[in-house]
Amino acid sequence: MRKAVIAGNWKMHMTCAEAQAFAESFKPLVAGLPSDREVVLAPPFTAIASLSSSLAGSGIRIAAQNIHWQEKGAFTGMVSAGMLLEHGVSHAIVGHSEPRKYYSETDEQINLRARSAQKHCITPILCVGESDSQREAGEAEKVIRRQVQQGVDGLDHSRLIIAYEPIWAIGTGKTCEAAEANRICGLIRDWVGYSDVVVQYGGSVNPGTIDQLMAQSDIDGVLVGGASLDPEGFARIANYQPV
Ligand code: PGA
Repeated sequence: MRKAVIAGNWKMHMTCAEAQAFAESFKPLVAGLPSDREVVLAPPFTAIASLSSSLAGSGIRIAAQNIHWQEKGAFTGMVSAGMLLEHGVSHAIVGHSEPRKYYSETDEQINLRARSAQKHCITPILCVGESDSQREAGEAEKVIRRQVQQGVDGLDHSRLIIAYEPIWAIGTGKTCEAAEANRICGLIRDWVGYSDVVVQYGGSVNPGTIDQLMAQSDIDGVLVGGASLDPEGFARIANYQPV
């Protein structure tokens, strides 16, 4: 059975002190989670080490928000898998729509990032999703399929998470309808061709939408941005109760 993965992407939020305060409030709220789910937090690189020690022994996992494909070298601003492993990182987000847009990341680069993660036993969380205009033009499935096929090339599908994140739903308060999110997550699983691959939904997930999303047969978890910054709200999301 696929395990649900509830991940929080903090983006460029949280100093070390704020991350530690979050951990102290959050830990007791998720201490009794059922064993069918796992919680992952993705702080900025600078807060990884302190959050990792604050969460030691809690079972909450740490993700990096990106990862470079080289081990080391002249790559200003980048962080490698080995550097992340040193701080207990178990997951890495790759292909998020923000670096795709702001730093022009390509599907080929994203695939290299995911391969490097897997090579070092870090689970990539590969983000895919269409823009508003691509959806309106009827191209959503074509775009997502290309991102999935190029993104997972050469990967071990049993150590991979894919997050379906429609760009128009990110940070807009417009959650994708649960049935439509479920349909796309199912298509993604078919395109990967591995029935146990974990497929998350992301885009304006909040405590009010989580139960319905998690009741869908093809949605195995969520990638949460804004709502993961509040310990009570994110704990409510982790404690979802499918309706
Ligand atoms: P959001 O972000 O929950 O704030 O919409 C999701 C994401 O970017 O992963």
